[in-house]
Amino acid sequence: MRIAIPKERASGERRVLASPEVVKRLVRAGHEWVVERGAGLDAGFSDAEFEAAGARLGEGAAVLAGAHLVAQLSPPAPADLPAYPRGAVLVCFLAPAQRPQEVRALAEAGLSVFALDLIPRITRAQAMDALSSMSTVAGYRAALLAAQHLGKFFPMLMTAAGTIPPARVVVIGAGVAGLQAIATCRRLGAVVEAYDVRAEAREQARSLGAEAIEVDLGERGEGEGGYARSLSAEAQARLAARLAERVRAADAVITTALVPGRPAPCLVDAATVAAMKPGSVVVDLAAEAGGNCAGTRPGEVTRVGGVTVVGLLNLPATLPADASRMLARNLQEIVHHLTPRPPKAPGDAGAPPAAPPAPVALDLADEITAGALATHAGEVRHAPTRAALGLGATP
Ligand code: NAI
Repeated sequence: MRIAIPKERASGERRVLASPEVVKRLVRAGHEWVVERGAGLDAGFSDAEFEAAGARLGEGAAVLAGAHLVAQLSPPAPADLPAYPRGAVLVCFLAPAQRPQEVRALAEAGLSVFALDLIPRITRAQAMDALSSMSTVAGYRAALLAAQHLGKFFPMLMTAAGTIPPARVVVIGAGVAGLQAIATCRRLGAVVEAYDVRAEAREQARSLGAEAIEVDLGERGEGEGGYARSLSAEAQARLAARLAERVRAADAVITTALVPGRPAPCLVDAATVAAMKPGSVVVDLAAEAGGNCAGTRPGEVTRVGGVTVVGLLNLPATLPADASRMLARNLQEIVHHLTPRPPKAPGDAGAPPAAPPAPVALDLADEITAGALATHAGEVRHAPTRAALGLGATP
């Protein structure tokens, strides 16, 4: 298939959904690439590297001509849609709840949107799971932001000028991002405590060397599909009170708690921030969904009394090289998933495939494809978006 990589248009976006390594591998498998000039520069990939890997370079909308699959971080603006070939697969992060009308426009433009944020979180789809890749990057960056804004060392140091105790970090929400934040803070030498409503996540935090905070909520924290569920007001108040004790004693707090389809739960209220030690830091990874901390201003680093609250958005874009490498590997698996390779002749394992790969095949009976395809054949397929648009059941 022909894969097109346009340059990202959103301001501050430095990632790209391709790497020279993945281009080379998929060219060997019989695919063609057209990469817009300059698309990889911010991620550290030059045009020459893409060309050497086997991609053709193009300018502007011309890269889209004849593409079977277009891969970009955010969906195109409505004004750019006429340049996208009807019938092409568009791989992107869609955030459909934030833009139902745009999703309808993508369907009407004849694009089959394979949304990176709708890929089912099942074992078979793990290698395609760009949400997990980007949560890993965000968790790592959150730990570094906490260390950067804290006026203290993370590790314990024994120096001629005295012994310095290690920083105390509390991580709230131990999903993919939280676990990476814990691992990074531990590598930097901090003492880490962690909490998650899911018992399994608390266990994983323990295995990374964090002390798990236990809270008797009086109800289950586990919801559907391995995710958390929204707590009752009473359980939420009990949790906030218990966490407040640990947060007040911390030097840095990293919050990552999210519940799918809901605003982020407020777990660090204004009174708790006011009671934190001067000089302490909160890094709120949930800022995009409204924040876990009362003082968070999305997109900003603010001071609340003596506390620094970091609400920066799109942290994965601040580590564009490795974030892009991870995304490119996720895309490689998606391309494999959408183009089943022809069987090789027996005893000829090293030989290239005898026939070129099949054209893009969207198997709606497949759980991954059915889950990720937000639009197809001119229709919106994603059920919550259909509901938001007042459309009936998914055809
Ligand atoms: P997420 O980004 O939706 O949420 C982050 C964390 O916040 C979660 O661990 C959640 O339990 C926690 N949380 C929610 N409300 C909370 C509260 N009130 N207090 C404290 N913590 C709270 O989750 P993420 O990181 O995307 O992954 C969640 C789970 O999804 C994984 O742990 C796993 O079970 C599943 N998953 C499965 C994958 C697979 O098998 N392919 C890949 C990735 C995730």
